[in-house]
Amino acid sequence: MLKRTCTCGELTRDRLGDEVILNGWVDGRRDHGGLIFIDLRDRYGLTQVVFEPGSPDAADLADPLAAAHSLRNEFVVAVKGVVNARLPGKENPKLKTGAIEVRAVEFEILNASPTPPFEIQGAEANEELRLKYRYLDLRRPALQAVFELRHRLTQLMRNTMSELGFWEVETPILGRSTPEGARDFLVPSRVKSGDFYALPQSPQLYKQVLMVAGFDRYFQIARCFRDEDLRANRQPEFTQLDVEMSFVEHEDVMSTMEILVARLAKEFAGETLALPLPRIDYHDSMERYGNDRPDLRFGMEIRDLADVAAKTDFKVFQAALAEGKRVRGLCAPGGGTRYSRKDLDGLTEFIAGFGAKGLVWLKVEADACTGPTAKFFSPEVQAELRSKFDANVGDLILIVADESHVTSQSLSNLRLRLGLELSLYDPKAFRYCWVVRFPLLAWDAEEKRFAAEHHPFTMPLPEDLHLLDTAPSKVRAQAYDLVVNGEECGGGTIRIHDPAIQSKVFALLGLTPEQAEEKFGFLLSALKNGAPPHGGIALGLDRLVMLYAGLTNIRDCIAFPKTARGADLMTGAPNTVDPKQLRELRVRVVE
Ligand code: AMO
Ligand code: AMP
Repeated sequence: MLKRTCTCGELTRDRLGDEVILNGWVDGRRDHGGLIFIDLRDRYGLTQVVFEPGSPDAADLADPLAAAHSLRNEFVVAVKGVVNARLPGKENPKLKTGAIEVRAVEFEILNASPTPPFEIQGAEANEELRLKYRYLDLRRPALQAVFELRHRLTQLMRNTMSELGFWEVETPILGRSTPEGARDFLVPSRVKSGDFYALPQSPQLYKQVLMVAGFDRYFQIARCFRDEDLRANRQPEFTQLDVEMSFVEHEDVMSTMEILVARLAKEFAGETLALPLPRIDYHDSMERYGNDRPDLRFGMEIRDLADVAAKTDFKVFQAALAEGKRVRGLCAPGGGTRYSRKDLDGLTEFIAGFGAKGLVWLKVEADACTGPTAKFFSPEVQAELRSKFDANVGDLILIVADESHVTSQSLSNLRLRLGLELSLYDPKAFRYCWVVRFPLLAWDAEEKRFAAEHHPFTMPLPEDLHLLDTAPSKVRAQAYDLVVNGEECGGGTIRIHDPAIQSKVFALLGLTPEQAEEKFGFLLSALKNGAPPHGGIALGLDRLVMLYAGLTNIRDCIAFPKTARGADLMTGAPNTVDPKQLRELRVRVVE
């Protein structure tokens, strides 16, 4: 075999006249009658190779043109040749190798390839096809760039954590169910038939045990498994930078992670972050942005309009206020000019998807607000509304009256949609914040009991401890989420290390001491055996790669992702297995 002496991404004018050997894939072939050009591609770049009959360089090639003719896209070839300058005007300044070409003197086909089902160089192919032939898809330079970024990001995390004194420790994949709240993937045990391992939803319990074991600072680039409905930012298996620390308070965890976040921002967004990052109370975030992952790249904050609504003659508002519901709204800069009546019907339909029963819209015009319900707003009330939003002529005021959570969901989604449509932010910008002081518990109306908002070992804020007995729904947690551009990129808590508080929380979660023992016995026993105060966090590694690579779908930064139905189209997983395997496991499939 002609073994490469250099890659397809490195030759420049410095090497003119050198004889080199390149190995790579045929990226394209251009036939110019007497002359054939081949672009040769590998991970490092593209090099133009020329086959020319009669050229003194090609004297050794019996029939260079016939040889080059047999080459097809995606053939794997080795070419020996001489580095030449391209003809004046034929340089390609976009390529590192754009000033040169290699004149072939010898070549070898290392492997053939049928015509690919989609063009590697072409526009985005259909995703199913891309996932089925993922090895071809992953040859695309744009995708390879994502994986280079992912590699560098992972190394930066690993090196930073190590530098900060954290030990990398692996924890089991076959383990016990962990309490992250999604459905578990189960693995039947052959040896202990009838019993199951659960794949970890996170290494949560193990990392807490490592703190009891005195490891002090732990991290892991950990694979997590959650059987939940997939979305653009969710996969059933994903990767976390998982972290746990001893003798810390929540500020210590956040400030330690900020060191890493600042390095990521520097490396992947070329930005020097001002630390500490802003901290936003959960409650404020829900009020101002309608969700717990505020996108701070733009303003357009949601405002409470109960006082203004009370002064209108609009029955919908009066009725809502009388029923203890809320009236909230936002003001879209330039929206009044931009959106037609039909667009506004579209927005009304859009928020109906989040449960809103209607949308009041008011276009801010020079002398008054216009819209079908504007007549219910007196000039004074209109003026008050405008000043509440600092509204300008051309803006659009949008108002929803409903239960609090419906106003939050519809307005937060409306805000994101309008932010994008009205280009209210630079899509290349990054904005980071911490959302803090989450509620400890969430009321599960169906099950009529509290559920842990994060997980059952989360420590309440010290100032709220007394509320555990009297007003549990008001208790706030020592919990923090890292939010980047409206995406939850990390979450963690300080853990309970006091058995008395833990029992109280279990009781609120409806767990009897026996049930708690059954589920988490090993952790509870560890916590009783000299547990240090501890806490931690996990960052969503895939989500960070997705953001820094400018992607909108997490699948594009995972080498072998699953489809929305949990399938791997390349391998065909999940698939049926041999009945013998099932018999060994004593598992029967029920139709
Ligand atoms: P949490 O469940 O918040 O916390 O997860 C931490 C971060 O992991 C990412 N993430 C996901 N990414 C892709 N696909 C998914 N299905 C998915 N689910 C979560 C998010 C999220 O912020 N054990 C705790 C951490 C702790 O308390 O220390 C935990 O797992 O970016
Ligand atoms: P209706 O009284 O249903 O004819 O609605 C009159 C106007 O009020 C329409 O523009 C509706 O979109 C709007 N509207 C109705 N219900 C609500 C609500 N809950 N919040 C905001 N606007 C509403």
